[in-house]
Amino acid sequence: MTPTVRLMTTVWALGDYPSVAGEVIPALGPVLVEACGAGPGMRVLDVAAGSGNAAIPAAFTGAEVTASDVTPELLDAGAKEAARRGVRVRWEEGDAQALQPPPLWGDPAHVTDLLGAGVTEIDARRQTLRVNAFATPESFRDFFKARYGPTVATYRRIAGNPERVAALDRDLAGLARSHDLGGGAMDWEYLLLTATAR
Ligand SMILES: C[S@@+](CC[C@H](N)C(=O)[O-])C[C@H]1O[C@@H](n2cnc3c(N)ncnc32)[C@H](O)[C@@H]1O
Repeated sequence: MTPTVRLMTTVWALGDYPSVAGEVIPALGPVLVEACGAGPGMRVLDVAAGSGNAAIPAAFTGAEVTASDVTPELLDAGAKEAARRGVRVRWEEGDAQALQPPPLWGDPAHVTDLLGAGVTEIDARRQTLRVNAFATPESFRDFFKARYGPTVATYRRIAGNPERVAALDRDLAGLARSHDLGGGAMDWEYLLLTATAR
């Protein structure tokens, strides 16, 4: 395991990512599964599957699903959830670092460049997810501070500097406040990108 991959797994195992997926963004997995048209007779590979937010709904369509991720703790959580719900998924530890940084997968030009002639019908849509999980900006901040690995890691890194902690506290609550549509509802934007293999 390279130092970068070790760092990734350490960060994503912090907090409680399965609760982020299950309580905040559970609707995203089924959106992706439907966009891919997963169903019986199909083989699905979910890369960076985490605890199975998309892989588990994909398996419920009757597809043969492999969920891969670099963080064993999340694969374990996903395997337990799939077993609890009575659905079959193959869980494989795997590093997808060679696919390049995740934020670039939000750039259609980058994805087109990466997948090249191997695919056709690349379709990129900006969509929003209505999030109702947080009653106040402060509850959004406290949830991410305690449960979302990258945020937990950031707070750990600045723990010795109270001013930076206070600034991050302020900024995270401010981020939620700036997106508050009223009553704590927020719309989070994401890019849904699909392509068809040639
Ligand atoms: C925001 S979570 C998304 C998980 C899941 N797709 C979902 O919708 O809930 C990001 C995931 O990427 C995984 N990840 C980060 N770097 C990775 C890498 N180099 N290879 C494979 N998975 C990676 C993390 O372990 C984590 O599960």
